[in-house]
Amino acid sequence: MEKILITGATGNVGLSTLKLLDSRNYPGIEVVAAVRDIERARKTEGIANCNFCHFEFDEPSTYDKALEGVTQIVLIRPNQVSDVSRYIFPFLAKAEKIGVKHIVFVSIVGAERNRIFANHRTENHFKKLSIPSTILRPSLYMQNLSTLHRHDILIHDRINIPAGHGLVNYIDVRDVAEVIVASLISPVTGSEAYELTGPEPLDFNQIAKIFSDELGREIKYTKPSTIKFVRQKLLDKKQLLYVLTLSLLYTAARSGKMNHTNDVIRSITGHDPRNLADFIHEYRDCWIRNDADSAPLKPRSRLRRRRL
Ligand SMILES: NC(=O)c1ccc[n+]([C@@H]2O[C@H](COP(=O)([O-])OP(=O)(O)OC[C@H]3O[C@@H](n4cnc5c(N)ncnc54)[C@H](OP(=O)(O)O)[C@@H]3O)[C@@H](O)[C@H]2O)c1
Repeated sequence: MEKILITGATGNVGLSTLKLLDSRNYPGIEVVAAVRDIERARKTEGIANCNFCHFEFDEPSTYDKALEGVTQIVLIRPNQVSDVSRYIFPFLAKAEKIGVKHIVFVSIVGAERNRIFANHRTENHFKKLSIPSTILRPSLYMQNLSTLHRHDILIHDRINIPAGHGLVNYIDVRDVAEVIVASLISPVTGSEAYELTGPEPLDFNQIAKIFSDELGREIKYTKPSTIKFVRQKLLDKKQLLYVLTLSLLYTAARSGKMNHTNDVIRSITGHDPRNLADFIHEYRDCWIRNDADSAPLKPRSRLRRRRL
């Protein structure tokens, strides 16, 4: 009997993984979603009947119960949990102690090179553990466009990302989830790591064009400088480390580090990775304005005020 614990189970990748495991209903596999708020999680579409346990990285008293009988873990580190020595390593120490036999860790593209990434420190920590691990380094998620950048596209008709003319090989989290599930079904006994890319590198002018064609209104790529982007995100009250990590990722895109693709998704799942135009078409309602969504009124210019 396998018991799989998924952290970050209500987020982008965790939710997709949970839904996929639930729909496949593998015999002999029990799946538990580790969540901060069980009642809230139960209301999430499509997972009402899943098993949940209460779990918070920053509440170590929740670790033991969540880990009871667990044989494999899908470790998704929430962006907010950046102090990994304090909140991720002690959790992994408990997992090692109870004999968890495999962990799939969702890292991020370039984490092996960038010391500033919390996922870099977590990847390195796995080298000190005796638990076999599969480290996945997905490229940027398409779902960022329907979450993180949704407001800019919906309200301001713009993509406000400091990637210059760089290319990005966006990936759909549903493809990442398929790779996670494949890794759980045939767990390794040593350690392995894969970079996961989407199907095609595109620049943000091309991406803005796909949006414009799909939505029937012009979406512009504003190409902000990194400094302007960081300032804006800090004004939006985003965490500094998170903003720096995002900026580094977009800087990597600008300098050509995301302009490649590989065939890992295809070789593991048997199909091509989902493409961005299809994703934007499928989720187009996210960026369609209704009466309630309208751009905030711009302050009147001084000139106009004087005239009034
Ligand atoms: N975004 C990208 O483009 C991208 C690309 C590749 C890799 N990654 C990596 O993916 C990871 C984030 O995954 P994601 O985007 O799937 O997550 P996400 O959508 O940001 O969701 C975060 C999840 O973590 C949970 N959570 C938040 N704080 C928690 C805490 N203190 N204790 C326990 N759970 C907590 C949230 O639960 P609640 O429902 O309670 O809030 C939610 O389920 C990061 O490590 C990032 O580096 C991101």
